[in-house]
Amino acid sequence: QTEFRNKDFITLEDWSRGEIDTLLEVSKDLKQKFAMDADTPYLKNKTAFLMFFEESTRTRNSMEAGLAQLGGHANFLDTSTMQVSHGEEAKDTAIVLSSFGHGLACRNCDWDIGNDYLTTLAEYSRVPVMNLQCDLYHPMQALADLLTIEEKKNNLENLKVSVIWAYATTHKKPISVPVSQVQLFPKYGMDVTLAYPEGFKLPDWVIERAEASAKKNNGSLTITHDMEQAYEDADVVIPKNWGNWVTDPHDEEGSDLLEANQDWKCTEEMMNMADDDVIYMHALPADRGNEVEDSVIDGEHSVVFDEAENRLHTAKAVMTLTMGGRG
Ligand code: CP
Repeated sequence: QTEFRNKDFITLEDWSRGEIDTLLEVSKDLKQKFAMDADTPYLKNKTAFLMFFEESTRTRNSMEAGLAQLGGHANFLDTSTMQVSHGEEAKDTAIVLSSFGHGLACRNCDWDIGNDYLTTLAEYSRVPVMNLQCDLYHPMQALADLLTIEEKKNNLENLKVSVIWAYATTHKKPISVPVSQVQLFPKYGMDVTLAYPEGFKLPDWVIERAEASAKKNNGSLTITHDMEQAYEDADVVIPKNWGNWVTDPHDEEGSDLLEANQDWKCTEEMMNMADDDVIYMHALPADRGNEVEDSVIDGEHSVVFDEAENRLHTAKAVMTLTMGGRG
């Protein structure tokens, strides 16, 4: 018997296939009830604290709207207005906030610090800690992606899913989305292809674990630096090129990288190489023009807004099970 109450949601590595299946089922149930305008007071009178070190549109609002729909209250905390900004430690913040409510969630994408901050919160919190994106993981996004793929493809096994990236930065190393995707998709027997130019690889330990998971679940993991190989006959493509990050003043290499990787753009020509029923996914925000053509992101294969909408239902499932659930 799996118990979800108080289980932290920091990395999908800590969640079994069975537990993720339950998250998917609860997400679908909540989505159906939302469509029917049915009451879902599973977290009545409960409070979650949402600490944000960075900006957000989807993550913040899916959590805030979601908790209201579950009968609870989400308290948004811009960390620049908290004593964190004066150096209060994660341990002390976790002890205090977790004595006030029922859930603690945080986005901290600072490289080499973000995940440590989350795990320290979890160590001292009396309530479940949810990762709203850190330097290593974005489990909320990957879960919504999985639900979207299941809805669009009616099955999850034996799909060629290509995760493609070419960041225009080496400074901030925004790997959290592909890391969480490659932790999750092989659990479902997908044929996952990772495609990126030389120099943009994920950490070795991420790849080693993903390969083991693919083998165990009758899927596969392919790594290529050939973008066309990734698009060829793909059922799902998830391309990303953070062109806009080039404006980061600390990233002197950014301009060169953007220039060097301009070909790593999702175009209609590339999409034509994929399966006829391919879906185009993107976590958003997208850097239209630099990383994807408007005709693709606004085209018939794009599911980006369904994917974004699913952030609401999957976030609600995570909160319902970890902040409520069986004790
Ligand atoms: N995909 C995602 O996490 O979006 P936000 O940065 O807007 O939350």
